[in-house]
Amino acid sequence: MKNIVILISGRGSNMEAVVRAAQAQQWPARIAAVISNRSDAAGLAFAASHGIATAIVPNKDYSTRAEFDAALQIVIDGYAPDLVVLAGFMRILTPQFVEHYAGRMLNIHPSLLPMFPGLATHAQAIAAGVAEHGATVHFVTAELDHGPMVAQAAVPLLPGDTVETLSARVLEQEHELYPRAIRWFIEDRLRIVQGQVQVNHTHI
Ligand code: GRF
Repeated sequence: MKNIVILISGRGSNMEAVVRAAQAQQWPARIAAVISNRSDAAGLAFAASHGIATAIVPNKDYSTRAEFDAALQIVIDGYAPDLVVLAGFMRILTPQFVEHYAGRMLNIHPSLLPMFPGLATHAQAIAAGVAEHGATVHFVTAELDHGPMVAQAAVPLLPGDTVETLSARVLEQEHELYPRAIRWFIEDRLRIVQGQVQVNHTHI
């Protein structure tokens, strides 16, 4: 049984999709904890109502990024994670923290990386007039929204799209994509070879 720790900052709809998939598909894994840097993260209530341990490590209580990350790491490691899942966790992480979880920390970013790293990805996609937009699951490395890519999902940009309509279309895909990628990790199907992810699709 592998332990998954999920980090959120807000709504937590991706966390919810992962929890539901893990339960429905009976993953050989348990969601050991959901941890937030904000006490008002809406997703905490969903986790608690599903019997999942929750913890809050408020970043505002720490004066430096290094101190916050060190405190967060202690709480995460208390749950002995095999995998740390960033699900709308709105923090820039220190290289030390990222290194500690090298090869066992995933993020979902709402763009077809390497296009549009950072914030306001949907507005950027609309402004650029791209034909397709989407989401990417990747291993976390020290450089923001970089790191070996595990899976991507694309959606069309439609005439008249707004940030709201486009983000909703992408989010629907995220809720399929992230559980699928996490399941691959749990089933030991992912290998990073020379900075590139290889997915083993054969029956294990
Ligand atoms: C998602 O769009 C995700 O790709 C990005 O932040 C958003 C989080 O949404 N990293 P939610 O909290 O999972 O609902």
